[in-house]
Amino acid sequence: MAKYPYKVLGLSGEFRPTSKCGMLVNHALDIAKKHGAEVYFWDLDVKPLPLVGEEGCWENSNVKEFQKLATDCDAFLVSSPEYHGTMSGAMKNTFDWLYNKHVKGKVFGLMSTLGGVQNANTLNHMRIMLRWLHAWPVPEQLAIGKVKTAFDDDGNLIDDEIVERLEKLVLSVLENTSKLSD
Ligand SMILES: Cc1cc2nc3c(=O)[nH]c(=O)nc-3n(C[C@H](O)[C@H](O)[C@H](O)COP(=O)(O)O)c2cc1C
Repeated sequence: MAKYPYKVLGLSGEFRPTSKCGMLVNHALDIAKKHGAEVYFWDLDVKPLPLVGEEGCWENSNVKEFQKLATDCDAFLVSSPEYHGTMSGAMKNTFDWLYNKHVKGKVFGLMSTLGGVQNANTLNHMRIMLRWLHAWPVPEQLAIGKVKTAFDDDGNLIDDEIVERLEKLVLSVLENTSKLSD
């Protein structure tokens, strides 16, 4: 039996798995999979979520599927780009479709990508927001500054130190999911 047989959902604050955040989330999901998790990636490009409040949003089938998947999952790996010092609108809107009943008591791993100098603004803002959802972000976190140069042409992370931090972050999410589910 796999050590961490949990369902883990990857969320990106950028569209497509080929965006920087999409690539980072998928690297994190690959690590989780290596440790026995069943992983899912929500691609906003394929299944867009309407803006909360726009006409017809409450009956939207993507929203219903997203909320069902979130309910079924045990843990989350999330990356947002930093836009004007905080998470992207797409990221916030994704979170706005989640309520306590979907994520309460579940563990989150937080990441962010920045065009400029690495900082923790977006990570801190997501951390504060998760308090309102009664979710548990782990203390490990990862911000990648100067993200345009962080990946090679094959989409691999260039800096070994970042890879090591990512592995520690994902492992912490799985270990803490295990502790909370005892
Ligand atoms: C509207 C907008 C605002 C941005 N604001 C910031 C910012 O405040 N700080 C920063 O370091 N980068 C900023 N960026 C750059 C993004 O963080 C960067 O584009 C993102 O991490 C993804 O990288 P990529 O565009 O190479 O996929 C901004 C980009 C956009 C489009």
